[in-house]
Amino acid sequence: MLDLVIKNIGELVIVPRGPIGGRSMHEVATISQAALVVQDGRIAWFGPETNLESPRECHTVDAKGGCIIPGLIDCHTHTVFAGTREGEFVKRLQGKAYAQIAEEGGGIRVSVEAVRGASCEALIELTLPRLQRMLLGGVTTVEIKSGYGLTVDDELKMLEAVARLKSFQPIELVGTYLAAHTTPREFADRPDAYLDLILDDTVLSRVRDENLAEFCDVFCERTAFSVEQSRRVLETAKRYNLRPKLHADQITQIGASILAGEVGAISADHLETIHDAGIAALAKAGSVAVLLPACSFFLGVEQAPARRMLEANLPVAIATDYNPGSSMVESLPLTLGIACTQMKMTPTEVLVAATANAAAAIDRHDTVGAIEVGMQADLLVLDVPNHHRWMYELGRNCVRLVIKKGEVVVGEA
Ligand code: NIG
Ligand code: FE
Repeated sequence: MLDLVIKNIGELVIVPRGPIGGRSMHEVATISQAALVVQDGRIAWFGPETNLESPRECHTVDAKGGCIIPGLIDCHTHTVFAGTREGEFVKRLQGKAYAQIAEEGGGIRVSVEAVRGASCEALIELTLPRLQRMLLGGVTTVEIKSGYGLTVDDELKMLEAVARLKSFQPIELVGTYLAAHTTPREFADRPDAYLDLILDDTVLSRVRDENLAEFCDVFCERTAFSVEQSRRVLETAKRYNLRPKLHADQITQIGASILAGEVGAISADHLETIHDAGIAALAKAGSVAVLLPACSFFLGVEQAPARRMLEANLPVAIATDYNPGSSMVESLPLTLGIACTQMKMTPTEVLVAATANAAAAIDRHDTVGAIEVGMQADLLVLDVPNHHRWMYELGRNCVRLVIKKGEVVVGEA
């Protein structure tokens, strides 16, 4: 592989390796008139262009005065799904609540019917164009959860779709086992019997042995699984090397973020209703707080108290929560813009949240999400001179080039 030299960088944003505590997220070093050298798919050097010693044979990329940031990481998505739910979207606009729709048999269960009816190949075909569009917006790593199958076979089918998608598109994918998303209709009054099924040794051994997932997630919520049921799910999964994650404190406060601390979750996600005790529990456990501002924006409900978590020095990450029910938003840059305007986070804070800290939420912080010598060269060349301008141009795709592992995968170098 030839070395790659990027010249004429207007602003190189030196995002450090995650996790980065909330109080340190607002300030990141930058270099203007910079250059960067990639060798063997990794960052080999960067600095002022006047100090550049070009390797003899190399590809040169002209950044044209644009800004360079790390490739974005969407660390919480449900990108594998079938069917759509625009009917619910309209009902919500007319006043029905998300939880009410779920209680009346709509919601997640509608997507479950559609996923059960789709083959693995069909799921791959539906997901591929979504990933291609995410890549155009600068997303180079995506976490994808199961959770719309809710039978052993259909959950594994979803994870198999994720595994197979790794080989024919450039985005790095990370699988999460979310069979405990909700209780399926067949088990309506027997949630514990459903948990017996999805936590069976044969199932979890397969997930582990076939590398189908690295994390286990659970929807800990009044309409889904209780704290004690969630604890059982996560403690059992740990024995199979699946690290715990939670959908916590989204709609009602039942103690999910405290559970996240107790089980040592790598991340607690949503957190719209988090309280001080939950914040303290996450701080103590070192969990990443993954906020999903597009979800609240899409549902038209209150945002998570981001500033309180930043002040408490939690490492805060931001993700799309891309799914057909609560966040039909596949654009991470738009989601970051929402975090700026609705959560009062600065462009620097949201950049760190979607790179270094998002990497930490999926245990990738030693390879991606930072501009550091030795890190994988996942980089974006933006057509704006600085990262503040990138967020300021809310909703416009400012990505000119996407570089994944040192290769230009979007745009003309
Ligand atoms: O993260 N909260 C639970 N799960 C998803 C929504 C799933 C759906 O409505 O299909 C979420 O918001
Ligand atoms: Fe989610």
